[in-house]
Amino acid sequence: MAISKALSEELEKRRAKAQGGASVEKIDKRHTKGQLTARERLEALYTAGTFQEFGLHARHNTRHFGMQDREIPTDGVITGTGFVDGRPVAAFSQDFMVSGGSLGEIHARKICHTLDYAAKAGIPVIGFNDSGGARIQEGVGALSAYGQVFYRNVQLSGLVPQISVIAGPCAGGAAYSPALTDFLIMTRENAHMFICGPEVIRSVTGQATTMAEIGSAETQAGVSGNVHFIAEDDAHALEIARRLLSFLPSNNMSDPPHRTETELSLGDDFELDAILPDDPKMPFDVRKVIARIADEGDFMEVMETFAANIVIGFGRVGGVVVGFVANQPAVKAGALDIDASDKAARFVRFCNIFNIPLVTLVDVPGFLPGVLEERRGIIRHGAKMLFAYASATVPKVTVILRKAYGGAYLAMCSQDMGADMVLAWPSAEIAVMGAEGAVNVLYHKELAEAEDRGAKVKELAAEYREQFASPYLSAGMLFVSDVIQPHQTRAQIALTLRGLLSKRETRPPKKHGNIPL
Ligand code: HXC
Repeated sequence: MAISKALSEELEKRRAKAQGGASVEKIDKRHTKGQLTARERLEALYTAGTFQEFGLHARHNTRHFGMQDREIPTDGVITGTGFVDGRPVAAFSQDFMVSGGSLGEIHARKICHTLDYAAKAGIPVIGFNDSGGARIQEGVGALSAYGQVFYRNVQLSGLVPQISVIAGPCAGGAAYSPALTDFLIMTRENAHMFICGPEVIRSVTGQATTMAEIGSAETQAGVSGNVHFIAEDDAHALEIARRLLSFLPSNNMSDPPHRTETELSLGDDFELDAILPDDPKMPFDVRKVIARIADEGDFMEVMETFAANIVIGFGRVGGVVVGFVANQPAVKAGALDIDASDKAARFVRFCNIFNIPLVTLVDVPGFLPGVLEERRGIIRHGAKMLFAYASATVPKVTVILRKAYGGAYLAMCSQDMGADMVLAWPSAEIAVMGAEGAVNVLYHKELAEAEDRGAKVKELAAEYREQFASPYLSAGMLFVSDVIQPHQTRAQIALTLRGLLSKRETRPPKKHGNIPL
């Protein structure tokens, strides 16, 4: 039976009604603030013509108080799948212009369906969060609906990459859904995220605060570490999401998008020979080293403003997608503290889940000394790095550039923690502790009697470095696979990675280890 004109028109009418809703003025207002509508966000994400919508005709649950006669097109969330750079990706986009994007039972069922679909298909999910939270009229049903979303976020964790864009309000318990995902991108101006707002904090604790202090993108990215990227506006958020996807596999059973079809170039890079300052105590920006090692200098830094004493991010070396972890001597001398440990450990675990090899660049004087660090639990947090690296079975290449002292040397993926290849530059200092600290312990009597204590420490420290911290000592004991010229670094890493692409390391089955959280 052919579809009659009437049936066809009925469908188009229903489509138009469900897709419409907000007035032109409201839409214009959003555009002037750099905010797209929920549907425009998905249109901009996907290759034109590839979006397949789930639940356009969804209707809110009308049994709730005052909800019988309301119109809530799509029940306030647009869901579906489409293609991004040739790969399928699922997405949901909360529509703030429809009942404040509030989450009711059907709204949540649509999100859950999208997450279930992504899990079955083995494809990443992107969620645009722009909502006033639980739909108040739907009461505890809406609360339960949030629980169902959280449950699925956890089931999908480690199965497919989950990316959240915080593009409007995301407050209260609702913030826990994005918090359970792998990467959060937050727009600088139009979004806020918090558990208890300034008003609640003031009335409960008497503390005066502002939205900027507790809920802005800058706070969430730079202070709390909840957010991985700040976007200038919606268009920029989409650009970040797309770039991120370009480094990620679709699921945990696939390889990331390596580009290994071309022949490996193994040329030297002599710029690297001059990259370290003459004085080993002088700081330098480790991102300059990464930029020379990563193919075309293309490095996507993650969590740039949080715990800047460690640098993490994605790139490719010889076409192989890698996660870089590098101490940053330009900030806190590159020492590991609580925040740096949390940041790096979570990143290492992400890379391990999704088959992304790890390249670790070491210049670490140790764990950061401090009363607050000890009292807040640097032992527990630092242990996360040991745990993450030792649990990771992906290829692991470590390059020691300068200092590699004490427990921090182990925490930066030494051979003992499972590195497949440890390379050291001739400038490497690998020792049980820092030279100055060591001479203060070993020569305390001589130093107490010395006329010029400072000069004596310097002299003894130089001796210590030569005798106890030389990379050749570690190479002699096979803790270091080879000492290389800096200009050979890129080629050596690339060769190692190509050789390790088929690495298989199996461990006895268990539910999961007990990482010190
Ligand atoms: C139902 C809601 C809503 C909600 C907003 N709206 N939030 N409807 N449930 N949670 C509706 C408004 O009534 C309004 O409807 C429309 O969305 C737009 O909202 P406005 O207030 O006009 O917009 P704006 O001035 O931009 O303010 C945005 C806002 C504010 C700051 C998000 O709407 C707000 O404070 N909403 C309530 C937030 C809240 O308290 N949520 C907590 C719910 S409990 P009309 O019809 O007028 O256009 C919760 C617990 C979850 O979330 C726990 C999970 C574990």
